Amino acid sequence: MPKRVLPLLLIGLAWLLSQPALAEADSQAPAVDAERLETLLYQDCGSCHGMTLRGGLGPALPRDRMQTLSPDALTHIIRHGIPGTAMPGWEALLSEEEARWIAEHLQTDNRLKTLTD
Ligand code: HEC
Repeated sequence: MPKRVLPLLLIGLAWLLSQPALAEADSQAPAVDAERLETLLYQDCGSCHGMTLRGGLGPALPRDRMQTLSPDALTHIIRHGIPGTAMPGWEALLSEEEARWIAEHLQTDNRLKTLTD
């Protein structure tokens, strides 16, 4: 290989590594937008389940009740709704990952711990 090619190769390599597209492809998929999902939960879901999740048209969604369902079941309910009831599916608005975030939030971080809070 002619001597003057090596520096060019190194410059090319340095340039490649500095490209944001590569850095992004390397990292995980972008994290879910927790703020958007929390707003959606307490406002949109809240329009039926109550802004404090204490129930309304839909049942209350307290943490203790949510923990009786598996994360998979909850994610499924959120994405596909409950056929034959007023509970709509949210798959047009929520990816699998986002629905799972809400399911986990309902089980662990949900503002309503129990109905008697
Ligand atoms: C249009 C009203 C409406 C909206 C909006 C709504 N739900 Fe529901 N949801 C219901 C109804 C009604 C039920 C009860 C269905 C039944 O009879 O089993 C329900 C049931 C559920 C259940 C099962 C509760 C249990 O104790 O088994 C979960 C979990 C749930 N909804 C979560 C959500 C989430 C999360 C959202 C927002 C992404 C949401 N819902 C938005 C009406 C709604």
